[in-house]
Amino acid sequence: MTICTTAYLNGAFCSAADARISPFDRGFLFAHAAYEVTAVYGGHLVDFGGHVARLDRTLAGIGIPNPLSGDGWGKVHRDLIEYNALSEGLIYLQVTAGSYGLRDFAGPDEFEPTVFLYADEKPLIGAAARDGIKVIFLDDTRWKRRDMKTTQLLSQALAYRTAREAGADTAFMVEDGRVTEAASANAWIVNGEGHLVTRDLSPSILPGITRAGVVDLLEGSGIRLVERAFTPDEAAGAKEVFTTSAGAMIAPVVAIEGKPVGSGKPGPVTRQIQRLYYQSMGADVANVAPWTMG
Ligand code: PDD
Repeated sequence: MTICTTAYLNGAFCSAADARISPFDRGFLFAHAAYEVTAVYGGHLVDFGGHVARLDRTLAGIGIPNPLSGDGWGKVHRDLIEYNALSEGLIYLQVTAGSYGLRDFAGPDEFEPTVFLYADEKPLIGAAARDGIKVIFLDDTRWKRRDMKTTQLLSQALAYRTAREAGADTAFMVEDGRVTEAASANAWIVNGEGHLVTRDLSPSILPGITRAGVVDLLEGSGIRLVERAFTPDEAAGAKEVFTTSAGAMIAPVVAIEGKPVGSGKPGPVTRQIQRLYYQSMGADVANVAPWTMG
């Protein structure tokens, strides 16, 4: 990842290196903040409408007024892409409940949000998409409102550290004997019957925008989708496993707890979904992801 030089803070574009917020910001003190991460491919935002709608829902859910309306968010994103000449990467956006110079749990009746955005240049269709990733299982220790995209990410940050120590890339979080999702992505398996299974939407998981995009693409693909929770054993014994997120798009999982998934290589359903998703983003798949062409 390469952080681009121009960022946006509270209504103005500025140098990312010089952006400053107060240490009394409720985002800093209480993680009272919503965030979004939107993919940019070929200089265009991917599935942007879904990200803005989810941001609106998260802000309403945590009592922060939405500081921009209509196409306001779109304009800031597009300007950030233009000022940084960003072709491929991510836009990170965070809205906090702001600062009022106190550490006070309840805070004022009305918040004045802090708004911060930056751009991150990185390949979205890279080595992980081609070769796959390794995962481990970990207890899901997060709060219960995972359907809101807030910055309370300590469980996930620690999960990534534990995964790295175990020689893996990320973790599948497990609660009540079922996989909820990956540490920063939704989790999918292809089961013995060839059905694609991903957990149904509820407060237990984030309603991924990439997940929604994949669900839409399945229509007419001949792949049968079942939305239900699955067990760690089902994942370990699945024919194929992959994750979806704006950050890593469709990432094949090739090993779980040190054992190969299926053949140990990304499988045909995962490849088909990668191909469909990349095409929908406008990618020249034959050129940038020939390994999906099978
Ligand atoms: N994470 N589940 C969790 C817990 C996530 O953090 C994410 C995304 C997803 C996938 O959502 P989407 O398809 O809308 O990106 C699911 C982002 C990329 C992050 O925190 O960087």
